[in-house]
Amino acid sequence: MTDCDAFRRFAVEAARAAGEVIRDGAQRPIDITSKGLRNLLTNIDLAAEGVIVDAIHKQYPDHDVLTEETPPGQRSSRCRWVIDPLDGTGNFSRRFPCFSTSVALTLDERSIAGAVYDPLLDQAFSASLGGGATLNGEALHVTENTELIQTLIGMDWTRDAKTREQNACIIAELAPVCGTLRICGSAALAICYVAAGFWDAYWHLCLSPWDAAAGSLIVREAGGAVTDLAGRDWQLDTGPCLASNGRLHDQFRGYVNQGCDRIP
Ligand code: 2AM
Ligand code: CA
Repeated sequence: MTDCDAFRRFAVEAARAAGEVIRDGAQRPIDITSKGLRNLLTNIDLAAEGVIVDAIHKQYPDHDVLTEETPPGQRSSRCRWVIDPLDGTGNFSRRFPCFSTSVALTLDERSIAGAVYDPLLDQAFSASLGGGATLNGEALHVTENTELIQTLIGMDWTRDAKTREQNACIIAELAPVCGTLRICGSAALAICYVAAGFWDAYWHLCLSPWDAAAGSLIVREAGGAVTDLAGRDWQLDTGPCLASNGRLHDQFRGYVNQGCDRIP
């Protein structure tokens, strides 16, 4: 077993442990506070974060950690775990059943292992660099679809007005030419749906590092592409994120850019 495989197994275990906390929390009253416009925080985000961070400190005490709910400390290692303990807090806070946990290990800002776990469906998507992508141990492959009219394409809303208007314009561009569109509300999970071939493509105009650190590796290891609007590989600090089966990527990216350009 390579080191990356061991990191991947740890990422799955940590995401599953957080998932247990989330599953349990979904059965109880939830404490909800606001972090800002359209941005919620619950007691379960913090509890899930604690489970993952404790596990990392125990297993990999020398590694750095970047997690959504805690300000980052000083960098001391080339290895950094990038974590969203609960992605889809808006859904979770309303008990809409679509949310996930994302755990990735980066080496020099590049993802080398990662897992995204859906605690309600017990689906663990994972990958290691060069080791392929799996869903509960079964190999994942993106679709082979090259016809936009046959596609199922996902997206998610952002929080600010301009990118929301751009999203509406992208929908107007794509709706007439694609098969259909979906929105699930957990970006980390949605990206994995491209890796699994459930969807052909997905876009988000404003992602944070923890939203796609694991998912971007999982899609690439499943044979797909993850880029910015210009077609450059998506990186942790990129923001806009386009994931696809690769074959459709340039066509898909063209429509997304046309939509964005309508709102300068
Ligand atoms: P978050 O709630 O963890 O920030 C649906 O809104 C999805 O998109 C969620 O996964 C949400 O992640 C993410 N998202 C929405 N607006 C975002 C923004 N401005 N920056 C980063 N992620 C965002
Ligand atoms: Ca979150």
